Amino acid sequence: MAFDTEPWWEGAVFYQIYIRSFQDSNGDGIGDLRGIIQRLDYLQSLGFEGLWTTPFYPSPQVDGGYDILDYFDIDPQLGTMADFEKLVQEAEKRQLKIIIDLVLNHTSDRHPFFIDSRSSRHSAKRDWYIWRDPAANGGPPNNWAGFEKSSWTFDRKSRQYYYHFFYRQQPDLNWRNPCVKKAMFAVLDFWCDKGVKGFRLDTINFLLEDEALRDNPIVDRVPFYLKQVLSIKQLPIYTIDLRANHDLIKAIRQHLTSNQQEELLLIGEIWVPSVRDLVPYYGEHRDEISLPFNFFLTNLDKLAAASFREAIADAEECLSPYPTTTVLSNHDLVRATTRFASQENSEAVAKLLATMLLTLRGAPFIYYGSEIGMRDRPPENIDQVQDRRGKFHWPEYKGRDGSRTPMQWDDTKNAGFTQVAPWLKLNPDYVQRNVKAQLANPDSILNYYKKLIALRQSYSSLRRGNLTLLGDDPFVLAYLREDCDDSILVLLNMSEQKSLFRGEIFERLNQKIWKLLASTHSNIAENFSSLKFNLKPFEGLVLKSR
Ligand code: GLC
Repeated sequence: MAFDTEPWWEGAVFYQIYIRSFQDSNGDGIGDLRGIIQRLDYLQSLGFEGLWTTPFYPSPQVDGGYDILDYFDIDPQLGTMADFEKLVQEAEKRQLKIIIDLVLNHTSDRHPFFIDSRSSRHSAKRDWYIWRDPAANGGPPNNWAGFEKSSWTFDRKSRQYYYHFFYRQQPDLNWRNPCVKKAMFAVLDFWCDKGVKGFRLDTINFLLEDEALRDNPIVDRVPFYLKQVLSIKQLPIYTIDLRANHDLIKAIRQHLTSNQQEELLLIGEIWVPSVRDLVPYYGEHRDEISLPFNFFLTNLDKLAAASFREAIADAEECLSPYPTTTVLSNHDLVRATTRFASQENSEAVAKLLATMLLTLRGAPFIYYGSEIGMRDRPPENIDQVQDRRGKFHWPEYKGRDGSRTPMQWDDTKNAGFTQVAPWLKLNPDYVQRNVKAQLANPDSILNYYKKLIALRQSYSSLRRGNLTLLGDDPFVLAYLREDCDDSILVLLNMSEQKSLFRGEIFERLNQKIWKLLASTHSNIAENFSSLKFNLKPFEGLVLKSR
């Protein structure tokens, strides 16, 4: 099937690598760029097309590298520029495209720009960040909050506050200043010249804040879609998602279009109240973000066909004209296996989720370790916590360490991740749940992922076809993926009981005979002449009409 006329990333399969946790190559207990290079054959053998690497820039690591102090270099803990160049080359040889994480909203407070800006009210870079006088009572200029209860930190020396949506060590850049724009565009050019194929733009709808500094309205509950980031019950209408962000995003796109020969992929981390709020981020003329992340399945924490159906229907209603993404897990969230499965049914649920992830319309983003069904392992006590959010909110919220534990490669000491004590404790289940064991087992989650990825790549309907939801069964989520070449039926029993899916009530299924392409429970190729499908608990089927 020829996909040549469409951009490579539409419907493509992506893998997210949290670098510190993927593979240590130099025996310091921290994953690094050379570690990724060592594992490229593995990544290629699974069939991934794009690799999104989390930030590798020099950083004081207050926020896992999302606090950058030099945008043009590599953190010595993670490697060198030569390692990065080698990674791009070696990835390219294996048809893997590197997408890097870029944090444009804020820098580290130890970045030379901020050190300069902070040095005096008269610094040439003062206006590169957001500085304001105290309120009449000497307190912060307004009620804005984010990772901290106030997003303003007082600087004694210059007697003004600076703004930071995230930690105080992550001051927000002032994107209304053209010099900031210019400096950050130079960063984009630098990495394009290194051969990256795109950027994952961190918190890209947080770039601008209200110029008049109006207070955010206070509400009874933290808005659900911001529960990970907001410490105060307020509606951040003056700090997130301001319309003027679009002009900046357009300017970023335009800059890339004028300076680069090939179209760069822009993935946007965009947190919004409803899926329809993502639409403007594609740009009126498709001149903004290529793939805004759709996080709406990550808001669900119970495996229930009705809630998945509703979230998928909402997304299709608004996004069907656009390419989209499917995300179930990432480095900020509890892994989907932990959210949706118990220890006992984890393997079955992991396969069921894989079936969905790889057959929905959106480009699947597979968070490292999902392919072997890795589960969260939160810190056991506050002394083990690395993620400061966990320290702040302990014990109600234990932070994000649980989903960032080292990759489980084999059952040797330290799981083949490192030779020494890892920077974050391993999940002890690595002894049973690891890549080596699963490669050897034809029925493993890993081999099932491989099979599904290959299917997605051989059927254009799975990659780019329409999606039609079927029925309203309380247990079975059913949908069709279709294009002019083929028609694929996906059945997912989201319950722990046997369920009967009565396909004969759908006229469009009737004229066809269905052949099994993949099943969570068996490898046996079957033809179904009857449209009554008896599904085992958590069984998923992918069928093709003949
Ligand atoms: C994004 C990152 C998250 C980080 C935050 C601040 O949400 O995914 O890990 O803490 O930005 O940079």
